[in-house]
Amino acid sequence: MSRRRDFLKGSMALTGAAVLSGAALAQGPSKFPAGLVYTKDAPGRWAGKEGAHAPKVTLEGPAIKIVNTHPMTEKHFIVKHTLLTPEGKVLGEKTFVSTDAAESTYTLPDGFKGTVWAASFCNIHDLWVTVFTV
Ligand SMILES: [Fe+2]
Repeated sequence: MSRRRDFLKGSMALTGAAVLSGAALAQGPSKFPAGLVYTKDAPGRWAGKEGAHAPKVTLEGPAIKIVNTHPMTEKHFIVKHTLLTPEGKVLGEKTFVSTDAAESTYTLPDGFKGTVWAASFCNIHDLWVTVFTV
């Protein structure tokens, strides 16, 4: 019985942490949880790696191009790009294999204005986000 109660307490604590993280993420780039999300300006334990990992974003009309200048080898590569709003609405995503170039292009919905997050995930150096506004 005690083990079950401890399990429930732990589950509730984790649920609370997840909700707080979601709220913090929605507030902006300065609120990204350290050790979970890295940015060009907050590379954390991956300092020095930001050049290849922080997504580079190019806006061309309604098109958004995301590029990582990251080596793509069998053991170390960019796994995925995701384009999303701070509220968590996914606008596009692309999964890569090690032989791909880490590049993806998306078209925003007609009339879209606001903050967008470009995310890339390295299989070794974790999750990186570039925040921008269109
Ligand atoms: Fe990497």
